[in-house]
Amino acid sequence: MNSKFGKTDLTTSPIVYGCMGGSGAFGAQDETDSIEALQEAFNVGINFFDTAEAYGNGYSEQLLSRALGDKRSELVISSKVATPNLAPDDVIEACERSLKNLGTDIIDLYMLHWPNRDVPLADSIGALKKLKADGKIRWYGVSNFGSNDIDDALELGDISVNQLPYHLYFRAIEFEVQPKCEAAGVPIMCYSSLMQGLLAGKYKSLDEFPVNRARTRMFDHRKWADAVHNENGAEEAGQELLDALWKLVDETGLSMEELAIGWLKTRRAVGGVIVGTRNAKQSRDLKKLLDVSLDDAVLQTLSDASNRLKQELGRDVDMWGKGRTR
Ligand SMILES: NC(=O)c1ccc[n+]([C@@H]2O[C@H](COP(=O)([O-])OP(=O)(O)OC[C@H]3O[C@@H](n4cnc5c(N)ncnc54)[C@H](OP(=O)(O)O)[C@@H]3O)[C@@H](O)[C@H]2O)c1
Repeated sequence: MNSKFGKTDLTTSPIVYGCMGGSGAFGAQDETDSIEALQEAFNVGINFFDTAEAYGNGYSEQLLSRALGDKRSELVISSKVATPNLAPDDVIEACERSLKNLGTDIIDLYMLHWPNRDVPLADSIGALKKLKADGKIRWYGVSNFGSNDIDDALELGDISVNQLPYHLYFRAIEFEVQPKCEAAGVPIMCYSSLMQGLLAGKYKSLDEFPVNRARTRMFDHRKWADAVHNENGAEEAGQELLDALWKLVDETGLSMEELAIGWLKTRRAVGGVIVGTRNAKQSRDLKKLLDVSLDDAVLQTLSDASNRLKQELGRDVDMWGKGRTR
């Protein structure tokens, strides 16, 4: 079930455990729950763990080390250097901090978290090359790099990954970035694969979604206090998709998570589907997501059901609409 990750020598599970929620990104989070969630994810067969220095300012990396440090040799760890730290010396220092937080002497996959327009990309990638040559990281890549950004990065270095928002509610990468990654042999790690929980089968209506999560471009900024963009959203198409998903849950007997993740696993260039959980019980459900495989008719129904939303949201791959990608 595990497979080679792109052009690297890493062997990874198709589901990647996303460590962000453990740092309180979605509200108050019990530390014991976070540790048990990490351990249970490993127990069900996940070997790939995604974190970042930005998740709780190193706390998420520390938690991963505390929960699974004794399993280090069996893990593939990806982490990311935060946007303000992309000047070469800062990249090196950030990596040293992450190594310490993670309690390891090498990071398997290290990414630039977002583009930083104030630092020449060549400088940041130069620092990644140095870290690789010095044996501090095995492979490097980028995250949230749009169509022009990935062109630039590919010219400058041996990019092993582009981590991007990609799921039934947000297919913007399909217009340009995904074909480019596929052509270059760069695997995509999809994040927010469950749309921060909207695709976890808990909500019948978009209006029930927690206000602190209804921040992405699909939500109407006039209605949702925490939205950081100025767009009117695409909520009618979003609700239409939710209704179609519930119908498919009834018809197939599969959970909404299985439908959402089963669809992502088949998409072009996808090398890992990141899912975050909050406790051991949710992590136990990851076993089903590792195993799920959807038949062609269901896959087509899902693609069709999300197509209107895809068209309405368009090709901007910054899911929050802050204009950070090119
Ligand atoms: N590169 C980047 O810029 C970037 C940005 C965002 C995320 N990421 C990565 O992607 C990871 C995951 O993305 P995400 O945090 O946006 O969220 P996500 O995986 O789309 O959704 C996580 C939420 O889904 C719900 N959930 C998961 N399993 C469940 C289950 N079995 N039953 C019920 N609910 C379940 C939980 O909601 P409740 O909280 O309601 O329980 C959980 O908090 C992050 O941890 C991070 O590694 C990367």
